[in-house]
Amino acid sequence: MFSLDGKVALVTGAASGIGAGIAEVLAEAGATVIIADIDKAGAEAMAERLVTAGHKSDAIAVDLTAETSVVRAVADVVSRHGAPWLLVNNAGLQDRQLLFDETVAGWDRTLNVNARGPFLMTREVAQAMVTAGGGGRIVNIASTALINMLAKGHAAYAASKGALAALTTATALELVSHGITVNTVLPGGVATPGAMHAKGPPPEGPAIRRPLMGMCEPRDIGAAVLFFATPAARYVTNQQLAVDAGWTLS
Ligand SMILES: NC(=O)c1ccc[n+]([C@@H]2O[C@H](COP(=O)([O-])OP(=O)(O)OC[C@H]3O[C@@H](n4cnc5c(N)ncnc54)[C@H](O)[C@@H]3O)[C@@H](O)[C@H]2O)c1
Repeated sequence: MFSLDGKVALVTGAASGIGAGIAEVLAEAGATVIIADIDKAGAEAMAERLVTAGHKSDAIAVDLTAETSVVRAVADVVSRHGAPWLLVNNAGLQDRQLLFDETVAGWDRTLNVNARGPFLMTREVAQAMVTAGGGGRIVNIASTALINMLAKGHAAYAASKGALAALTTATALELVSHGITVNTVLPGGVATPGAMHAKGPPPEGPAIRRPLMGMCEPRDIGAAVLFFATPAARYVTNQQLAVDAGWTLS
């Protein structure tokens, strides 16, 4: 029920943070995990770490903000490993900016990585999945900022994650007839490089509440992704699963 033996999984932003935790969990379940990141050296180091631990992995450099880079990266992965079974749209920027200080450049930077990037990846990978004809899984990593963890300064961030959640529903509808499911995981607080060094004003607002069970680890998010990726979830599509250590209760 929970094996990914023989499957190829492509995880964006997997050189560090939550993506690295997702990659570990998927590799332990038997998948060949493609570490796709703008940080080429970091992606190669992560793939090497998984291989050294006895798993199957490869690295690909990709800049999600550049259409040509996404098209080339997905074509490279398909030619090396075949069509992925699983795409995890995980890479994302978490910078904050208060409304009156937000610029078009700042808004575009966040939306380009967090929403436009997943659109491009989904288009390219889903096309490969459909051509291969074996179905597949897509998991989008949004945020509990959509439900209960919103902080001041999150206009662009929350809008980008709202777009990603809407992309989940729209693509789930178009891909269901091809045997491809699309679901969303909403992480709560995870102490990653991106979260610790996010630029902008300090978090203020409801998000200063704390998860009752402590901070999640990247692997906790990986476990939720694993569920959506395996045969256990074959009839689960267009769903959201929050992994937030009780944040909704605080
Ligand atoms: N950490 C948290 O508390 C938290 C909470 C909710 C949601 N999330 C979401 O989880 C995801 C991962 O967050 P994280 O905390 O691990 O972030 P992180 O900054 O630690 O890691 C993000 C990774 O994405 C890569 N990346 C950035 N821009 C890219 C681009 N243009 N092309 C390709 N790769 C790029 C980075 O190199 C990095 O390896 C994000 O989508 C984030 O919004 C995180």
